Amino acid sequence: AKEPVRVLVTGAAGQIGYALVPMIARGVMLGPDQPVILHMLDIPPAAEALNGVKMELVDAAFPLLKGVVATTDVVEACTGVSIAVMVGGFPRKEGMERKDVMSKNVAIYKSQASALESYAAANCKVLVVANPANTNALILKEFAPSISEKNITCLTRLDHNRALGQVSERLNVPVSDVKNVIIWGNHSSTQYPDVNHATVKTPAGEKPVRELVANDEWLHGEFITTVQQRGAAIIKARKLSSALSAASSACDHIRDWVLGTPEGTWVSMGVYFDGSYNVPAGLIYSFPVTCCNGVWTIVQGLPIDDLSRKKLDLTAEELTEEKALAYSCLS
Ligand code: NAI
Repeated sequence: AKEPVRVLVTGAAGQIGYALVPMIARGVMLGPDQPVILHMLDIPPAAEALNGVKMELVDAAFPLLKGVVATTDVVEACTGVSIAVMVGGFPRKEGMERKDVMSKNVAIYKSQASALESYAAANCKVLVVANPANTNALILKEFAPSISEKNITCLTRLDHNRALGQVSERLNVPVSDVKNVIIWGNHSSTQYPDVNHATVKTPAGEKPVRELVANDEWLHGEFITTVQQRGAAIIKARKLSSALSAASSACDHIRDWVLGTPEGTWVSMGVYFDGSYNVPAGLIYSFPVTCCNGVWTIVQGLPIDDLSRKKLDLTAEELTEEKALAYSCLS
């Protein structure tokens, strides 16, 4: 039998946490034969709720779940973890300036970076979900220099999956037959959901999404805005954020990273990189990647048309500004 893997979820008493921890305990993230020990971190005001989640995990009697650590102590939470899913953060409240929210999150990610660096397992893989996800991940990278930068990523898989979902609905085909959309850039409304290289499996072989949709107006307009603004649409409908789909895509992100992407398929991940596609280096930016043996590689050489170029640059500019804002909060 395999040794259990310790998986950290921060913000585990929150909405996404509540959807995510049972998925991990069922093997959705690391596979049906991989036992896990869950480490759940939250802050003292949420300690009681966190303990409630722990009680439910016990009650669910998950066969793969070999232990639960529920704590408000960041050191205890980080000790020995091989996977860290960072969902905890400070939400933007009404009337708050962007800088104030950034400053709270920079402080959180700086201190959690140090705890991970000192106490997590060597080679721990980190996924940042909490917003601003790319910039939180960048701060985490800066303050955990001994963790390989290849091991620090942020979640844009939800946006990727949303794009697959929109194409599937539009063409009335199963979502599993659609692949190779790309989310470029920031997990924000400047992200660029790109279908120029996406394909659909048909009885006559793989066909480009562009050819099947045959409606550039939709592809350049409503498709992009729907994906960019889907998070807000769900908050409006549910009065709560998109926790189920965020949790599910966090599992997809880690699963593909650890177990590999299928042959011929890429996924989108926010990663630290060195200047691919002429995007300025020094950011955590979402790219198309393939994964093998626990290592991601950016898909190279895709042709980028003029319209796409502008959108890649626009979202890079926003990330550069966010980075500057984050750094100004540090000083
Ligand atoms: P939530 O507010 O329900 O949960 C957040 C939890 O984090 C709370 O339990 C809170 O007590 C905890 N927390 C706050 N500070 C913490 C700290 N220093 N250490 C540990 N825990 C801490 O929010 P929800 O809906 O679960 O969303 C979590 C985050 O994920 C938000 O930042 C949200 O914007 C982001 N998000 C990101 C998505 C993505 O695709 N990247 C998609 C959806 C949400």
